[in-house]
Amino acid sequence: MAAAFGTVFMPEMAISWFDGSRWSSSEMVPSNSISLHPGAHVLHYSSTCFEGLKAFQHKDGSVHLFRMDKNIARLAQSSRLLYLPELNEKMVSDMIKETVARFANEVPAPPGSLYIRPTHFGTEAAIGKAAVASSESCFFVLTSPVGDYFSGGDKMLRLLLEDEGMRCAPHMGMIKSGGNYASALGPISRARDDVNADQILFCPNGDVQETGAANFLLIDGNEIITKALDESFLHGVTRDSLLTLAKDMGMTVSERNISVDELLERAAKPGCEAALSGTAAVLAPVGTFIYKGKEHTVGEGSIGKTTLKLRSTLNNIQWGHAEDTHGWLTRVN
Ligand SMILES: Cc1ncc(COP(=O)(O)O)c(C=O)c1O
Repeated sequence: MAAAFGTVFMPEMAISWFDGSRWSSSEMVPSNSISLHPGAHVLHYSSTCFEGLKAFQHKDGSVHLFRMDKNIARLAQSSRLLYLPELNEKMVSDMIKETVARFANEVPAPPGSLYIRPTHFGTEAAIGKAAVASSESCFFVLTSPVGDYFSGGDKMLRLLLEDEGMRCAPHMGMIKSGGNYASALGPISRARDDVNADQILFCPNGDVQETGAANFLLIDGNEIITKALDESFLHGVTRDSLLTLAKDMGMTVSERNISVDELLERAAKPGCEAALSGTAAVLAPVGTFIYKGKEHTVGEGSIGKTTLKLRSTLNNIQWGHAEDTHGWLTRVN
């Protein structure tokens, strides 16, 4: 059996430390070699944020990062909102390129890729700073070769619609921070145990938002409906890319609030599709909603043609099979 996503790592990573006044020059170090003071701010007060992006190998052996600039901008924003030291975006970009170039020959061929996890966290040894920012921090670029996300075939996902709780505090939603995943872990674990759900679709006060680790798209005929950007949820790079491609295809993109009632009403129509978007899977089909103890099949309950078309259109750009008309790729080698 193939290793689980994100459990195999390249042996080295680029790392830099902020000492309160400047960033150290980046170094390549063994990936299992960081040492932290047990009082490090991140271990107590979750001053951490990270990114997830991918590099793809093309047929000629060249390796390309997908929308790195968007991920760097989101990381810089997460860092600012968490009051971590300001990142140097040029340094971050250089460190990502350097780490990926180092392992360019080992980037798995499509449908595999190199998953990249840039991470920034507070390192100041200060356990009295519960309400004060860490003045010191560390930034590294960990990488993990990953295989075909859909190697077992397209599994139709089961989502529990949760309209009472929320994934995280609303003002934290657009920060890609460890604390948000910790906050959602209990509810998701219970949903898995209680109703065999794969994920929760958080719908605070009936407003359909996102799942624990992906954005949500509803596809009804020629229209894609997804929540408009606000600070309550993560602004996915994949979401943005798919909406751009959908517009290119002549689809109607509606970024607006959608209620649980409207969602269930539309999902009952034959031909309706629902899917989760994110870097890991690109677009994963949803077959069932579970709401107040009742199961609702989405459309025919099988993967829809628009989901497949959007996913392959994006994959073809990433894999170098189609022209990169939006300038989303950065070559590293
Ligand atoms: C909570 C959450 N929402 C959305 C996404 C999708 O973001 P992206 O498309 O940038 O991977 C992710 C994935 O990283 C996520 O963790």
